[in-house]
This record gives sequence, structure tokens and C-alpha cells, in this order.
Amino acid sequence: MPSPRISLRPFEASDLDALQAVMGNPEVMRFSLSGPKTRTETEDFIKRCRAQYDEFGYSLLAVVDQAENRVIGYCGLYRQEIEGRMELEIGYRLHPGYWGRGIATEAARMIRDSAFANLDQERLISIIEPENAASIAVAKKLGMNFEREFLFKGQRTAYIYAVRKTKGSNQPSPKPRAVIPPARQGGRQL
Ligand SMILES: CC(C)(COP(=O)(O)OP(=O)(O)OC[C@H]1O[C@@H](n2cnc3c(N)ncnc32)[C@H](O)[C@@H]1OP(=O)(O)O)[C@@H](O)C(=O)NCCC(=O)NCCS
Repeated sequence: MPSPRISLRPFEASDLDALQAVMGNPEVMRFSLSGPKTRTETEDFIKRCRAQYDEFGYSLLAVVDQAENRVIGYCGLYRQEIEGRMELEIGYRLHPGYWGRGIATEAARMIRDSAFANLDQERLISIIEPENAASIAVAKKLGMNFEREFLFKGQRTAYIYAVRKTKGSNQPSPKPRAVIPPARQGGRQL
């Protein structure tokens, strides 16, 4: 098997410059409630990802291009409360220089497989604006299906795409185990 082009790991404070090149880009942030982030907002984002990783053992993670050893975006799990229900969302954003090569799909598949193998989680979702065709394509390649339309945070119309854990997808595999540690016994569950 070819070695993966990317790796996923928790963010570090030193990722700020690389991540700001992604999160500060209006094209990348076109489909977001916040729009492009300032440097300080990206710094806060990194801190929040770290805090979530420390508390739950998963979070949005840095996507690292292996050949260049460079952070090119994020992909991972994000807790979303939707109409009173706690859901786990797979989120992804990449630097435009890396779009169209299947990298988001590769990263998101690692996250999906790792989450189903190691977390007590029956389903994963993606929240996607109707015009975001690239993101819808990624969701479909993850095996997600359109579920419904809703008003995201009371602000924007968005679609929920969802995928359920299937038989056999709870077999821990060596690679994803490194992405999300197995749920701790007695640890916090969703
Ligand atoms: C969404 C995003 C992460 C996809 O990254 P990527 O690495 O280019 O994704 P992939 O190459 O794995 O797959 C993209 C798919 O979208 C398709 N696609 C891209 N632009 C498209 C468009 N305008 N219309 C239809 N399909 C499109 C590609 O053809 C590809 O599908 P295919 O493999 O079936 O051909 C990237 O576009 C991005 O960072 N966008 C901005 C941030 C964002 O919107 N994130 C999602 C928020 S919900």
C-alpha cells in the first residue's frame, strides 16, 4: 500500500502562521459563519482545539503534508449541539493550493474510521451550506447521505449529511488508532 500523503495530529502553538494562511483566506472561509479569521482568532481556535483534545481525546486536527512537512489545514471532529442533541461533526478546511487532489477525502476517511473504531459513536454528521458543492462531494465520498435542511445557529440555511456506523467498522485499525485514542473506560461519552 502507498504511504499516506498526509498525517493528522493535534495542533501546536507553532502552527499559527501555517493555519492563518488557511483561516485568514476569504475563499476558504466563504462557507462559514465567522468569515476570514484574524491572527488572534486563529490563535484562539488552536487553543480551543487543544483544550477539546485534552478533554475528549479528539478534536479538529492539523493536516500535515508529509512531503513538505507543512500544515495545510484541518480535519477532525467537532461537537455540535443541534436542536438540543449533541452531534459529532467531521469538519475540514484546506489551503486552496491543495484542493482537488482528494486530500480532504483521505483525511476525513481517517477520521471517520478512527471515530467509529475508537469512540462510542453511532453516527457522524457534516453541516454544509447548500452551495458548497466541494464539501457535499467530500461528504458523499465518506458515505454520508443528505438528511435534512435546518437553520444553523439561527443564521444560515444548511444541510445535515450523516453516516452511521456499519457492522465491522468498530474493528480498531492500526492507523486510525494513532489519530483518536480509544475511548477511556468510564471516560466521558457523548
Ligand atoms: C471542501 C474542501 C475541504 C475539499 O477539499 P479537497 O481536498 O479539494 O477535496 P477532495 O479533492 O477530496 O474532493 C473534492 C470533490 O469535490 C468536487 N468539487 C470540487 N469543486 C466542485 C464544484 N464547484 N462543484 C462540484 N464538485 C466540486 C471534486 O471534483 C471532488 O470530487 P470527485 O473526487 O468526485 O471529483 C476544500 O474545498 C475547502 O477547504 N473548501 C473551503 C472550506 C470549506 O468549505 N470546508 C467545508 C465546510 S462544510
